[in-house]
Amino acid sequence: MQITNLEEYAKTYRESVENPEEFWAKVASQFTWREKWEKVLDYNFSDYYSKWFINGKLNITENCLDRHLETKKDKEAIIWVANDPNEEDRRITYGELHQKVCEFAGVLKNHNVEKGDRICLYMPMVPELVIAVLACARIGAIHSVVFAGFSSNALASRIQDANAKVIITADGAFRGNKIIPLKAWVNDALDSCPGVESCIVLKRTQEEAEMKEGRDYWWEDEIKNAKPLFDAEVMDSEDPLFILYTSGSTGKPKGVLHSCGGYMVYTWYSFLNVFQYQEKDIYWCTADIGWITGHSYIVYGPLLAGATSVMFEGVPTYPDAGRFWKIVDRLGVNIFYTAPTAIRALMAKGLEYVNLYQLDSLKVLGTVGEPINSEAWHWYHTHIGKDRCPIVDTWWQTETGGIMISPLAGITPTKPTYATLPLPGIQPALVDNKGNEIQGNSVEGNLSIKFPWPSMIRTTYGDHERCKNTYFSTFKGYYFTGDGCKRDEEGYYRILGRVDDVINVSGHRLGTAEVENAINLHSSVIESAVVGYPHEIKGQGIYAFVICDLHKLENTSFEEVKKEIRDKVSEVIGAIAKPDKIQIVKGLPKTRSGKIMRRILRKIAEGDTTNLGDISTLLDPSIVESIKEGRISN
Ligand code: WTA
Repeated sequence: MQITNLEEYAKTYRESVENPEEFWAKVASQFTWREKWEKVLDYNFSDYYSKWFINGKLNITENCLDRHLETKKDKEAIIWVANDPNEEDRRITYGELHQKVCEFAGVLKNHNVEKGDRICLYMPMVPELVIAVLACARIGAIHSVVFAGFSSNALASRIQDANAKVIITADGAFRGNKIIPLKAWVNDALDSCPGVESCIVLKRTQEEAEMKEGRDYWWEDEIKNAKPLFDAEVMDSEDPLFILYTSGSTGKPKGVLHSCGGYMVYTWYSFLNVFQYQEKDIYWCTADIGWITGHSYIVYGPLLAGATSVMFEGVPTYPDAGRFWKIVDRLGVNIFYTAPTAIRALMAKGLEYVNLYQLDSLKVLGTVGEPINSEAWHWYHTHIGKDRCPIVDTWWQTETGGIMISPLAGITPTKPTYATLPLPGIQPALVDNKGNEIQGNSVEGNLSIKFPWPSMIRTTYGDHERCKNTYFSTFKGYYFTGDGCKRDEEGYYRILGRVDDVINVSGHRLGTAEVENAINLHSSVIESAVVGYPHEIKGQGIYAFVICDLHKLENTSFEEVKKEIRDKVSEVIGAIAKPDKIQIVKGLPKTRSGKIMRRILRKIAEGDTTNLGDISTLLDPSIVESIKEGRISN
């Protein structure tokens, strides 16, 4: 199933478009199914549904684990590297991982978890997170991993939305030189989540953690009290596998739901082809499992392929900016997949942290999560890849489940800042603002997908209307991605960034409305407007324009109130959403109908104030002058 040259790519692509069902049936037949599907695909984009491998029965963990036991029992599935460079690695073979997943499945059963129940995971990057994810999938429970950098408020709203029955966490998490008191945050969240019956707590940092009798249990004790459960639940291909919350242009994050069969087929196929994975490769994706990249390309894709997946608990700059490269050399990493923001952060620290290392095991480099600027691309290519490793710039989304547009490593000729060409089975289209497909090359438009693929979003949890409205109503007959995109003279795709009110901060998606809602909870704030602006390291930074009630501020300085606003955002969402710049303003540029003209604010935040366009439709055009004057430039 691995494409080996450009001609074969072109041929496979053509076949996949001409006869998608036949193509995907061939891919799907590589797996262990308890019962074969009856029909490959049924879908409708106008009243959205998409069903794959209909009536097929399987368990994804049998494909990630059991299937490999015969030939790869002693092969390492996970090599875990701790935050502290002096702590020993943990190496877990396929045989051991299988055993541990079945043990933890037994624990979940003891806590009355049934097929279809939602389980929330709020954990550090430790192997037990992978074990818990797979144990859920083993028994048919729907996992919802919440990134451990989200605040207790954000966690609580995700638990409530999914109505999770069990939460799995740890006493704390190590991140660089910080310790995050996860259990304390969970305790705060659970005060407003009465539906949670059990909380299972892994010991990691030895933090003091208050345990509530009858609700909270130590992971280690529970394992001792449980019998391993070896039988996997037989799942329908379309049964839900997981929920992952992501931000959109409205205030409330939505639970993107993926199902078992299609997700399995696509994550495996894309992993194999994009990275050109070979049997002996050591593969390392630096993402956190709290995001889709970690789900698809630390856990499911690599394990489905029987690969050795490196998992790193720490951060790129701790104890110094050479940490990634030190690990690459020490483990002999062959395939390395990271985010542009990490590359830019390390680039800024200087080459002395790179030049200490050989990096000669590397064969393939990857990036994901945001557009990569040319300078970062070249630095990565020259100094990390030594001009020898192809870079796969992989474009995709939480909703797409897997990589959609990307070079196949070493096969597709790369071009800096271009995600290049669609994977087989993926049919992108550029659509103009009226919803007409733009044909030909050297064009720009709204990136949309005109035909289903196996790992596409099935619904937004508990609110299918929202799924239809968000993705299938903007352009009739298309899945709309929210990204702007260019197709150049040779048909290569270049992602230009979001065209909606979503900002991408260090590769993390945040809705401007979500940040505004948090800012507005500060008692002195009357109104706010948030926009993104180019940020050297983060890709985009958050610029907040805030109107305050000056009477309430009498005894507080602007600096103090800005700090309070940042703390408020941290409390409501998490530190990742803290505004980089806060400008206190007298008013916002509003139209007569009360709509904020964000276009103007974006320009001001970017520092491009010479041509603000037509401002005559504003209720009070003079407000623009005063905002311009107060602009925060650095
Ligand atoms: C952006 C991450 C440019 C894009 C897997 C998309 C990218 C959003 C790239 C999804 C890329 C992702 N080049 N932009 N290679 N990859 N994006 O859901 O705006 O966290 O819509 O999924 O990230 O972010 P998400």
